[in-house]
Amino acid sequence: MVTIKSKKEIELMKDVCKIVAEFYEQLEKEVKPGISTYDLDKKAEKIMRNLGGVPAQIGYDCGIEGIPVYKHATCISVNDEVIHGIPSKGKIIKEGDIVSVDTVALKNGFNGDAARTFIVGNTSKDAKRLVDVTKNAFFEGIKYARPGFRIGDISHAIGEYVKSQGYSVVREFQGHGIGKDMHEDPGIPNYGKAGKGIRIEPGMTLAVEPMVIQGKPNILELDDGWTIITEDGSLAAHYENTILITENEPKILTIK
Ligand code: MF3
Ligand code: CO
Repeated sequence: MVTIKSKKEIELMKDVCKIVAEFYEQLEKEVKPGISTYDLDKKAEKIMRNLGGVPAQIGYDCGIEGIPVYKHATCISVNDEVIHGIPSKGKIIKEGDIVSVDTVALKNGFNGDAARTFIVGNTSKDAKRLVDVTKNAFFEGIKYARPGFRIGDISHAIGEYVKSQGYSVVREFQGHGIGKDMHEDPGIPNYGKAGKGIRIEPGMTLAVEPMVIQGKPNILELDDGWTIITEDGSLAAHYENTILITENEPKILTIK
């Protein structure tokens, strides 16, 4: 069900999303060569709790039989890992890596969701371009995140832009509505037909999240039940914000 948030609910959404915005400003400083993704997650959890947020991904159950409950504050996906990388003591971040961090904060019953891909030190021009294109794709998409358009217009804009840059979008995962639940309707694919899908209306809060692969779109799921990697071993990036639909331009709630 698509939920339209009341004035009061919008205030609560703004409040939790502010935590996520500040969270990434603080976390960025910790993404350095030599740290394990496990230790980075522990720092992330501390940052979020200090800001007054509960890490909503801890204990998250996707509901699919055989997939373990998620146990960490963040997903950390390095290089050819696309999304849902599980923090690990054996995974050490090194110079040149691209590191995608995804997190959800919960406060007063409402969720705020965002992801960033950080570049560690000097990286290749290609990797940098991938990270830039992924972020730009979000902004291309939300040009249509306003009354008068439909969800398919956001999807189409993201998909076409990414294609025009020579990259692929992930087809198996998508953005989503967000509020009292981490994942609400509507689903927001990163490709699709313009003019299709439900109408966009003020009071919707949406997590728009391009996942972009340098090479072919195909992905694999690791045996851990979570980690998604590119099939061809090429790099992947992720960029996500929670936005509020208004009468005019959307408000990006997870950027300061
Ligand atoms: N934050 C992710 C999203 O963008 C969800 C991650 S799944 C979890 O929808 F298990 F880590 F919570
Ligand atoms: Co999301």
